[in-house]
Amino acid sequence: MKVWCLAILVLLPLSLFQISYGNAYEEKQILLKALKIKGDIQRGALIYEEACVACHYENAVGDPAGTFPQLAGQHENVIIKQMAEIAGGFRVNLTMLPYSTTKALVSSTEDLFKHPLTSTQVLADIAAYLASLPISINTTKGPGKILDKGKKLFESRCSKCHGVNGKGKAVASIPALAGQNYNYLMRQIDVYNKGSRKKANPVMLRLMKGLKKVELGPVMDYLSRMK
Ligand code: HEC
Ligand code: HEC
Repeated sequence: MKVWCLAILVLLPLSLFQISYGNAYEEKQILLKALKIKGDIQRGALIYEEACVACHYENAVGDPAGTFPQLAGQHENVIIKQMAEIAGGFRVNLTMLPYSTTKALVSSTEDLFKHPLTSTQVLADIAAYLASLPISINTTKGPGKILDKGKKLFESRCSKCHGVNGKGKAVASIPALAGQNYNYLMRQIDVYNKGSRKKANPVMLRLMKGLKKVELGPVMDYLSRMK
């Protein structure tokens, strides 16, 4: 009897962990397949209007308060990877979680097309559409006071990865930051430091932890104004 109880006590949490972690991993892998297929921009636009526009706004410029990031002009790889991480629970985003799962992506196409598309195809289509949009600079900005300091710090510590023009690098899945909402960028400092983006680039994480928010503020301000 005692042995049974002990076995259950040990095995139950272990198997629950396995199930939830296993599912998250699988969800992520399914979505990552989208990296290998070609997206259809026109179809992506239709699906975006159905599934994403309520939060990320028309033309994917994000909301004026910076709660929802701009997605316009972001690299396809970045969109796909971030979606996979959100759906898989590797990036904590409770607001968007229900809209990022493979099931939600498929169901968003059920009314649009005669046959629902696979989640992999849906994601590739949306990513192709988003990458094709021009980056808007009508996003939230910081105080604009010490932009030269922000520029200097960005060019010495960040531009090696994110590019001097802030456009990131498609092949390496490094996000474009130019024109992004200042409020969103500032929030990401806390998000990274709290460990809520579990697949974050370790080099960048160390770099951010070593800098103060007052130092990073002007960098984000500078980026939000970059065309
Ligand atoms: C209910 C609101 C909501 C809906 C609907 C929604 N999102 Fe989001 N999305 C968010 C929020 C909030 C964030 C930012 C979370 C944070 O601050 O980390 C986000 C972040 C993202 C990011 C990460 C951006 C980056 O720069 O890393 C991507 C990619 C994204 N959303 C794509 C989509 C797509 C594609 C859809 C439609 C299938 C969608 N979202 C639907 C709320 C939403
Ligand atoms: C070693 C390469 C590297 C360096 C250096 C680097 N980053 Fe990043 N950064 C990345 C990668 C890769 C991502 C996307 C995936 C992740 O790590 O979350 C990212 C993501 C980000 C994001 C989130 C973007 C979004 O859309 O959510 C911000 C903000 C950011 N970086 C700012 C900075 C700043 C500011 C610096 C300099 C202080 C910096 N990065 C230096 C590689 C780097």
